[in-house]
Amino acid sequence: MKLCMIGAGYVGLVSGVCFSDLGNTVYCVDKNKEKIDLLNAGHLPIYEPGLEEILKKNFKQKRLIFTSDLKFAVQKADIIFICVGTPTKKNSNSADLKYIFQVVNQLKKYINKYKIIVTKSTVPVSTGDKIENILLKQKKRKIVDIVSNPEFLREGEAIRDFIYPDRVVIGTDSIKANKILKSLYLPIVKKNNRYFNTSRRAAELIKYASNAFLATKISYINEMANLCEKVGVDIKDISLGMGTDQRIGERFLRAGPAYGGSCFPKDTRALIDTANLFKTNLSIVKTVIKSNEHRKLLLTNKVKKILKNKLKNKVITFLGVTFKPNTDDMREASSLFMIPKLNKLNARIKYIDPSGKKKEFNNLKNVKFCKDISSACYKSDLIIIHTEWNEFKLLNFKNLVKKKDFVIFDMRNIYSPLKMKNLKIKYFAVGRQSN
Ligand code: UDX
Repeated sequence: MKLCMIGAGYVGLVSGVCFSDLGNTVYCVDKNKEKIDLLNAGHLPIYEPGLEEILKKNFKQKRLIFTSDLKFAVQKADIIFICVGTPTKKNSNSADLKYIFQVVNQLKKYINKYKIIVTKSTVPVSTGDKIENILLKQKKRKIVDIVSNPEFLREGEAIRDFIYPDRVVIGTDSIKANKILKSLYLPIVKKNNRYFNTSRRAAELIKYASNAFLATKISYINEMANLCEKVGVDIKDISLGMGTDQRIGERFLRAGPAYGGSCFPKDTRALIDTANLFKTNLSIVKTVIKSNEHRKLLLTNKVKKILKNKLKNKVITFLGVTFKPNTDDMREASSLFMIPKLNKLNARIKYIDPSGKKKEFNNLKNVKFCKDISSACYKSDLIIIHTEWNEFKLLNFKNLVKKKDFVIFDMRNIYSPLKMKNLKIKYFAVGRQSN
């Protein structure tokens, strides 16, 4: 099939590259010419393990075409995927749909024969109806079907998530569009019955409902971790004991810092906005947002407590600053809250992240990026394990820090408290006894 992905960002690029690997011809369009040049030169504008190899292979075989010419790509394709960003509007909770409607207004000029227009971007319930109205005004309705097909790709795991999806959700009541999309997805859903056709509005809501639920699960276990610290119980035992109940499930029950990333914070806020619009009180999701915000402060206060409120000139090392491992994404990372706060209290911060230096900290005095783990840890007073990159999982801290009386704050519960105790290293974690 011939596909057009509009927006060569995370969603468009990962999906486009993976679709081309299934044998489709994919036109990836982006208005940013620099990005297109970069892609045509075989380089990735995003960090995603394994993506570059698949891109190069399919580019060579001419199944992947990168262009800024929207008209050309739209007219070539049978299915058009809208994959542009829907960030939070300034000073509001609602999703900014301006990029979506810019694209739709261009599409109405270029559509020349029957096309399926699929929204992959995360959009509030009823956006598909609005898109349809715009195209209907132009009397293009008979030759387009507007479908919602939310993506559930996790950064760092996106290729696996694409090839082995838990489900593919297709929101449309068009039998024709559903049949075509089913055959597009067949290679990845045939092994199990994971293809799910529903109404367009339901598909739009499934995405938000899923992300808000996962955010709730994380916040729940994070709050449980707070209680564990008080009652002398290990949160890992609670996660395991709860998670083995199949009705609960063991995934997304890892306690840690506040959740971040490009989806959970944005989507929970946008869901509240939609609920307000439809005069519904989603009190649980509202509480989750508050709890997650509060968690940033809670863990920062714990850092202060560990250092007995004497932060002046204390050297604090952050191992990892991204919101999760295997990504270079800093969006809504809790380190963006913690590092400036600790820095303001005159602590000296060193950080290392396998995805490189972060521009977000460039203007902060006494915040230094280190290229290797040993220089990051050397003579540090406090090591904070902020992001669970594999690189940080088997460290010999005594050899690295080369200093008496240093402390570790393991925000991801990677290390064993008992082993730390035996090594006589002062160790704090999340939802576990410290020593
Ligand atoms: C998420 C969704 O999982 C994906 O389906 C969606 O479409 C896009 O948003 P992503 O933001 O890439 O994916 O990351 P995810 O792996 O879901 O983690 C999000 C945040 O939750 C991270 O900050 C992570 O550290 C945190 N998290 C996750 C926990 O704190 N504990 C867990 O058990 C799981």
